[in-house]
Amino acid sequence: MSEQQWHLGPGTVPPSAPEEGGARLREGSRSDVPGPKCHCCSDISNKVNKVKYIVISAVLLLASCGQKQEAGEPQIIPQPAFLQRLEGSFEIGRKTPVFIDAGDSALLRTVGFLNGHLQKAAGFELQVSDDDPLRHGNEEGIFWLQAGSLPESYHLRITPDKVLVEYADGAGAFYALQTLLQLLPDAIFADSPQRGVRWLLPCCDIEDSPRFPYRGMHLDCCLHFFDIPFLKRYIDLMALHKVNRFHWHLTEDQGWRIEIKKYPLLTEKGQWRKETVVGSLHSGIYDGKPYGGFYSQEEVKDLVKYAAERYVTIIPEIEIPGHSLAAISCYPELSCGLEDHYETATKWGIFKQVYCPKEETFKFLEDVFDEVIELFPSELIHIGGDECPKASWKQCPHCQALIKKLGLKDEYELQSWFIQRMEKYINSKGRQIIGWDEILEGGLAPNARVMSWLGEEGGIKAAQQHHEVVMAPYPKYYLDYWQADPDSEPLAMGGPTLLRTMYDYNPVPAVLSPEEQKYIIGVEGCVWTEYMPTPARVEYMAWPRMCAIAESGWTKAEKDWDGFTRRLETHLGRLDRLDVGYCHAFWDPFIDFHKDTEYSKVVTMSVDAPGAEIRYTLDGSTPTASSPVYEGPFAVNRQQRVSAAAFRNGKQIGKLKYKDFR
Ligand code: ACM
Ligand code: ZN
Repeated sequence: MSEQQWHLGPGTVPPSAPEEGGARLREGSRSDVPGPKCHCCSDISNKVNKVKYIVISAVLLLASCGQKQEAGEPQIIPQPAFLQRLEGSFEIGRKTPVFIDAGDSALLRTVGFLNGHLQKAAGFELQVSDDDPLRHGNEEGIFWLQAGSLPESYHLRITPDKVLVEYADGAGAFYALQTLLQLLPDAIFADSPQRGVRWLLPCCDIEDSPRFPYRGMHLDCCLHFFDIPFLKRYIDLMALHKVNRFHWHLTEDQGWRIEIKKYPLLTEKGQWRKETVVGSLHSGIYDGKPYGGFYSQEEVKDLVKYAAERYVTIIPEIEIPGHSLAAISCYPELSCGLEDHYETATKWGIFKQVYCPKEETFKFLEDVFDEVIELFPSELIHIGGDECPKASWKQCPHCQALIKKLGLKDEYELQSWFIQRMEKYINSKGRQIIGWDEILEGGLAPNARVMSWLGEEGGIKAAQQHHEVVMAPYPKYYLDYWQADPDSEPLAMGGPTLLRTMYDYNPVPAVLSPEEQKYIIGVEGCVWTEYMPTPARVEYMAWPRMCAIAESGWTKAEKDWDGFTRRLETHLGRLDRLDVGYCHAFWDPFIDFHKDTEYSKVVTMSVDAPGAEIRYTLDGSTPTASSPVYEGPFAVNRQQRVSAAAFRNGKQIGKLKYKDFR
C-alpha cells in the first residue's frame, strides 16, 4: 500500500525494509506527520457550541492542550529491525474504529486479543469493521492491511490520527499486535480496569521481521509436571516475546506424560514415580511421596490449538533411545531384558536402561509416533537422542548380534541406525526429525535437524554437513542454571549463567562460512525442571533471561547491552502487570571474585540495571548513598566482608548483597 493513498503526511520513509547414577552431563559445572492533533480539542469544541458550560470547557481545553500529553518512548523487546520515533501520539479511545479485511478470521482473532486487553484494562472494546479499509482511508482509526511478502513481517506507522498496520501474514499481524501492546502504557497488561490512564501510542514508524524462523522455548514437564493452565500462560509469555516454538518435553526416565491410547499403561503406571529425591541428585534423601501427572489427548489438542492461535508451534519430544525408563518400567520387553525389575526413576541423571533395538520396540515406537503425529501438526518431531548409555547394548546378545548382522562398527553406529530407522518412519508420515547433539554420533540421519546443546560443537558439525541447526547450548541457553549468586539463590543445576552472558551469546558460530551459517535456523532456551518443582520457580528461572534469548532470536541488529537493559527495565513493568514472578537480580550487584593468593582475593562487581552505581563497604556496615562507589577490581583479605547495593539518584534500587572472604 503506497503512503500517498493513506494520507499519512510527510515523514521519513523507512529503509526496505556418562553411565547410570552419573549426573546429567551438565550437572555441577557451573517516528513529519502534521503536528500533534489534540483529539480532546475537536471533541470538546463540538460540545461547547451545544452546552452552556462554554467557559469552563474552554479552560479545561486550554489546560489539556497546554499539557500536550505524550506517550512514552518506544521500549520494545525484542527490539524491532527498524524503529523511528515520530512526533506526537495516537490515542485509543472507546470510539476508535478498527478496519480489517473482510473474511480474514485469523486477523479478527488477533484484533480480538487487543480487545481482550482493552476490555480488562480499559473497560471498553473497539468496534471492528470489516468494510473495505481502503474506503475509509481518510478517516481516523486503526487500519489493518495485508501487504508485503517476508514471512512474519509487519510495518507499523502510527501518526496522530491513524495507525496503519501492514502485515505479510497472520504471524506478521500477530507480531504487530505484540508491538502495539508494548507501545501502550504497561497498564494495558493489567487484568482489572485502570483509572486515569490515557491509551496513548507514540507516533513511530516500525519495520520488523525476524532474524531466525525458529525461536524456541523448551519446558521439561517430566522431571516436574505442569498443568495446562500454566502451559497456556507460558505460551502467552512466549508469544509476547515473539517466540514461536514450544518444545514440549514429554517423556523421561522419571515419568511418561502423554496419553497414548494404544498403550494405556504408559500413563496409568508410567506417569508415576514412587518418590522424588530431595535436594541435589546426590543427596540420597527421598520424600516418600508418589509423584505423577499426564496430559490427556483432549488436553493436548486444546493446547496445540491455543498455541497455534498465538502463532506458536508445539514440537513434542518423545525420547529415544535413552531417557526411556518410565516406558520400560511399563513394558519391560522394550528393554534389553538384563534386569528383573524396572522402575520409573526417582532421582535425576542418566540411566542405562534404554530401548533395545528389536522389532517389538520399533512396533511400539511407530505406534506411539503415529498417535503423536496425529496430535501435533508440527513439521518437526523431536526424538531426543541425548545421553544414551551403551552399557546395556554392550551386554545384550540381541544388540551384539544386530551390530554384526548390519556390519556396524560399534554401539554408536547402532544408535545411528536406530535413529535412522525411526527417521525413515517419521519421514514416511511427512514429518522431519530433530534431535539433540548426540544424534551425530555414529553418523547423522539423512534429513535430521540438530538441536545443539553440548556447547556449540555439534551445531557447528551439523551445519558443516548442511543440516539445519537450532542453537540451545548449555550453559548459555540453559535457564536451569543459576542467574545470580548461588549463595543466596535456590538450588539450581550449575552456573551461574547471568543475564548478560545469555544476552551476549551469538548463536551463529564465527567459524562457520557464510554458506554454512545459513543452516543455523534459530535458538532455544531450555528449561529443565529438576530443581523447579512449581510454576512459580519456572517463571523465576526463565524470566527475564528468556527476554535476552528472545531478542537474540528475533533482532537482526548488533548487540546493544545498554539499549537492551534500558528497554528491559520498562519491560519488567509489563511483566509486573502480568504478575510474572521473574528474578529481580537485575537491580542487585553481582559480587564475583578471583582467588589471588592464599590470603587475598580480587573482587569484581557488576549490576544490570542501567545508570546504576554500586556502593560498597568492607567493614560489615550497610552501604548507603554516600559509601564508596565501585570503580573497578580491588583486593580483599580473608577477614573482610564485601557489602554492596546498587543506587540511582541517591536511592537504593535493589537488594543488599554481601560476601565473606574467609
Ligand atoms: C540435555 O540437556 N540432556 C539435552
Ligand atoms: Zn538389546
